[in-house]
Amino acid sequence: MLTDSFGRTATDLRVSLTDRCNLRCAYCMPAEGLDWLPKPEVLTDDEVVRLVGLAVTRLGISEVRFTGGEPLLRRGLTAIVRRVAALSPRPEISLTTNGIGLDRLAAPLRAAGLDRINVSLDTLSEETFVKLARRDRLGDVLAGLAAAATAGLTPVKVNAVLMRGINDHEAAPLLRFCLDHGYQLRFIEQMPLDAQHGWRREEMVTADEILAELKLGGEFALTPDDPTGRGSAPAETFLIDGGPQRVGIIGSVTRPFCAACDRVRLTADGQLRNCLFARVENDLRTPLRAGASDDELEAIWLRCIAAKLPGHGINDAGFLQPARPMSAIGG
Ligand code: 5AD
Ligand code: SF4
Repeated sequence: MLTDSFGRTATDLRVSLTDRCNLRCAYCMPAEGLDWLPKPEVLTDDEVVRLVGLAVTRLGISEVRFTGGEPLLRRGLTAIVRRVAALSPRPEISLTTNGIGLDRLAAPLRAAGLDRINVSLDTLSEETFVKLARRDRLGDVLAGLAAAATAGLTPVKVNAVLMRGINDHEAAPLLRFCLDHGYQLRFIEQMPLDAQHGWRREEMVTADEILAELKLGGEFALTPDDPTGRGSAPAETFLIDGGPQRVGIIGSVTRPFCAACDRVRLTADGQLRNCLFARVENDLRTPLRAGASDDELEAIWLRCIAAKLPGHGINDAGFLQPARPMSAIGG
């Protein structure tokens, strides 16, 4: 088991399959994009499956989420999902995507064994989409969402990040849209993970503000889903008009959930990270390519988890952003 020195056990593995993306969301990337990882540094399909297999069969990982960059840009995605679904014990398999291309890929991914999906959608306005993601692709995202629901990748979850002065007036319309379509919406506080280091605490739209904004118009009656707390889930969920529909708010910065974290991350170039905000990575690719045994690789995983810090430290005076941006770590 991947248990750290604070008693937390990692059971949820997030695998970034590429650092490339076809959008340039302002909270993630600069307009001109980034230098992508050179191809030889990126794990091959076989290497990804070997490492995921090791984690699932020997280290207690029970959920595997594929992320990016944009994971739908990875050519071997469907085959990777199929091979991971064939592992025993079979992990739950999910995907976080911007939705572009999902209209074609939702059904084959479902057939390959994908269980669930999260699609990023920050605005319903084409104009705002272009401002925020710097590409005119809102229609593709909406088509992708619809295809995911049709393919049975349910519940379809939607992730939204609000940015002050850009889309912070859209909390209620986004919720209305998701309720109408049967999607589960979750707002995520903007975190300091953008490549251009543009995050400012004062600029961040907080969980409290999002909640207040949703209550403001009186359109939705929100009650806490679980009055005793949120358990290990990062999202605080609220029932809408008594339920069963809900909305989630992930206050990663103002309401950190590090104490209940059950995640570990593998980057597209084979580096293991015990936290989104980790400043140290454990290299799995080099030993893997040098012919390391499962025992040797397992020892690296255990070492990585043992060094996990109690929290992300964003609220500490000396906080330093990780060297890699979100697109190269995976969400
Ligand atoms: N803060 C919060 N969420 C982010 N995402 C990407 N960058 C950030 C950030 N700086 C979101 C994306 C996607 C998921 C992978 O994380 O919108 O839904
Ligand atoms: Fe691409 Fe996701 Fe970053 Fe947007 S947030 S630029 S969709 S990787």
